[in-house]
Amino acid sequence: MSQSAVPRSTWSNRWAFILVTIGSSVGLGNIWKFPYMAGSQGGSAFVLVYLICVLLIGLPLLMAEILIGRRGKGNPVSSLLKVAEETGNSSWWGVLGWVGMLGALLILSFYSVVSGWIVDYLFKALTGFRVETAEAARQSFDTLLGNPYQMALWHTVFLVLTVGVVARGVVSGIEFANKTLLPCLFLILALLTLWGCVAGDMPAAWHFMFDFKLADLTPVVALAAVGHAFFSLSLGMGAIMAYGSYLDRKTSIAHTSLWVVAAGMLVGILAGLAIFSLTFRYGLQPDEGPGLILQTLPLAFSHMPGGGLLAIFFFLLVLFAAWTSAISLTEPFVAWLTERLSIHRPIAAWGTGLAVWLLGLASCLSFNWWNDYRLFGLNLFDTLDFLTSRIMMPLSGLAIAIFVGWAMGRTAVADEIRLNRHAFTLWLNVLRFLVPVGITLVFVFRIFGWME
Ligand code: PHE
Repeated sequence: MSQSAVPRSTWSNRWAFILVTIGSSVGLGNIWKFPYMAGSQGGSAFVLVYLICVLLIGLPLLMAEILIGRRGKGNPVSSLLKVAEETGNSSWWGVLGWVGMLGALLILSFYSVVSGWIVDYLFKALTGFRVETAEAARQSFDTLLGNPYQMALWHTVFLVLTVGVVARGVVSGIEFANKTLLPCLFLILALLTLWGCVAGDMPAAWHFMFDFKLADLTPVVALAAVGHAFFSLSLGMGAIMAYGSYLDRKTSIAHTSLWVVAAGMLVGILAGLAIFSLTFRYGLQPDEGPGLILQTLPLAFSHMPGGGLLAIFFFLLVLFAAWTSAISLTEPFVAWLTERLSIHRPIAAWGTGLAVWLLGLASCLSFNWWNDYRLFGLNLFDTLDFLTSRIMMPLSGLAIAIFVGWAMGRTAVADEIRLNRHAFTLWLNVLRFLVPVGITLVFVFRIFGWME
């Protein structure tokens, strides 16, 4: 491997790592997907299962993924190879790194298109855009989807922003961007939640999200919640492994993971409360699906005093969240190119960006010109989403649990994770039994009761 010449970067301190990992995890998943999925999947039942999954499956896996990265000190492939070799396992485990890196690029290609929609709406908000009726709101979204040029333009802008950061390097690019964007994100979110309390119907939002009704808890809801826990924690796609590889040996993996998980849940809940309180206040429906924040909310914004300003803040919030996540989707492959092929980082980053951009263009077209090309009824955009978040992420999560839980061996794992004996045994057993059983159940259910 030709990586030894350049010393490997390390995050400035443990807070920097916590911040970048929160940046990766908090994204469109928490602000765009979580509210609309909760909205269309039974509200509180979905929220409850999601929270349980995040704690029982997500947290242990997050720790496992950071562990592999930090022990391997390389890109996802080389980290896995190194740890596998050190612990006497087959080099086939390296395949898992490939699945992650390629999966991350696939996600990035459509993630950037959705983020492009957000940039479009931010731009609209800045130019005083208003919609008076639900019909008009729907139409403006449909017009965007019908216009590949406009979508491609914003997709390009978003990718340039993302790749520009990654090209600058781990500390001066990725860490710096997260340190700047995340405090703004939290500030805006706090502001929006307060706004929701004052101008929205917070009690209704609260009931919708937290009044648990057992009858709403169907397998479909549970499965959607498990899948979403993976997506929102950035699991199984090499992103966390790559970030973990820049973490020093002193930092506690368990502590940092707890912070990340808590922040992700908090953002999802606050964003949900803010969004639903406004949705209910204006008599709108929470089950709009993916258009929730792009159709329902603009309508609410147009009807409330100060709504124009609120819209700008809101779309900035989503943009910052998406940006810091997209950065983490780019890093694994760029790290591989720079370390394995000794390609200069900026060239590796822009080259990766170009490939993702092309694939993203295909996603843009799948809403209009190529709308008729379908696989099992799904267009390319939906196919990529399905393939990555419903299949690749859980499967590689399963493989990571098996690798760290069973294959690596207790000594190496304990040496890296450094928990007290009880906590260690608990975590290891969850990773060995609960996580694989949970993920397998999801697949079995899905095979027997095929559903969206
Ligand atoms: N967690 C990010 C989100 O919620 C998406 C993501 C998935 C990022 C996988 C990195 C890896 O939007």
